[in-house]
Amino acid sequence: MNILDVNGLKVFHGRAQALRGVTFHAREGEIVAVLGANGAGKSTLLGTLSGIYAAKAGEVYFKGEPIIRQSPGYIVKQGLSLVPEHRQIFNDLTVQDNLLLGAFHRYIKDKGTLSEDMERVLGIFPALRGRERQTAGILSGGLQQMLAIGRGLMARPKLLMLDEPSIGLAPIVVREIMEVLSKLREDGTTIILVEQNAAAALRVADRAIVIERGQVIISGKPSELVNDERVQHAYLGRTGGHAGNVAVAFGY
Ligand SMILES: Nc1ncnc2c1ncn2[C@@H]1O[C@H](COP(=O)(O)OP(=O)(O)OP(=O)(O)O)[C@@H](O)[C@H]1O
Ligand SMILES: [Mg+2]
Repeated sequence: MNILDVNGLKVFHGRAQALRGVTFHAREGEIVAVLGANGAGKSTLLGTLSGIYAAKAGEVYFKGEPIIRQSPGYIVKQGLSLVPEHRQIFNDLTVQDNLLLGAFHRYIKDKGTLSEDMERVLGIFPALRGRERQTAGILSGGLQQMLAIGRGLMARPKLLMLDEPSIGLAPIVVREIMEVLSKLREDGTTIILVEQNAAAALRVADRAIVIERGQVIISGKPSELVNDERVQHAYLGRTGGHAGNVAVAFGY
């Protein structure tokens, strides 16, 4: 079953058209990687699905219900969370308060369960444990990214969307984060993963799409994408050579 269906999404920033009819879907419990160059429209896509940007045209169905033109607060409550570009954590707040902000929409009603949720996040990211009272701004980039993901998880999402979580992080931390995404998928969370690090994203994804100038130009399984010359040239740093080498590097 599709948890998300996006049809013909068109979005403008002022007069500039950022999305030119984006159509794609996510099935329940899969990781969909979204690849694309700078300015392709990836963040605009996630921002629109989250209710931050208004679409000019198109449809978005989440769990079969239309969410287009709904507010960000309503969309989070339905179970769709965004871990935004550049993390956007609150540097002056503690780790704990940053996490609690992810559950602000049920802070009053659901207070009793928040510590359980916090415990779950600390179980997923043990490196954050013991740092609950530290100021978020002093954490390393990797810990800040874990905190940003943890904050997203505090909303108990059915669909978690991440905007370039690996940017600026050491390979070992990237690997750790990708492993967490795999585990979340095993627990039934659907994930949309926007990445410039195409290699890391394709290793963990079940399917992938490539966006260019506001349109989906390629979609398929990672094994199909790594053998696609356009993907190799633009996203996997291969300017020639034999396609098989890339496939071997990915273990296909
Ligand atoms: N707030 C804005 N106002 C005006 N134009 C914008 C705004 N945000 C994005 N754009 C433009 O819309 C297009 C798509 O931008 P977007 O940020 O969605 O791309 P992206 O794929 O996320 O890029 P990146 O890889 O750099 O994060 C770009 O041409 C960008 O300059
Ligand atoms: Mg972006």
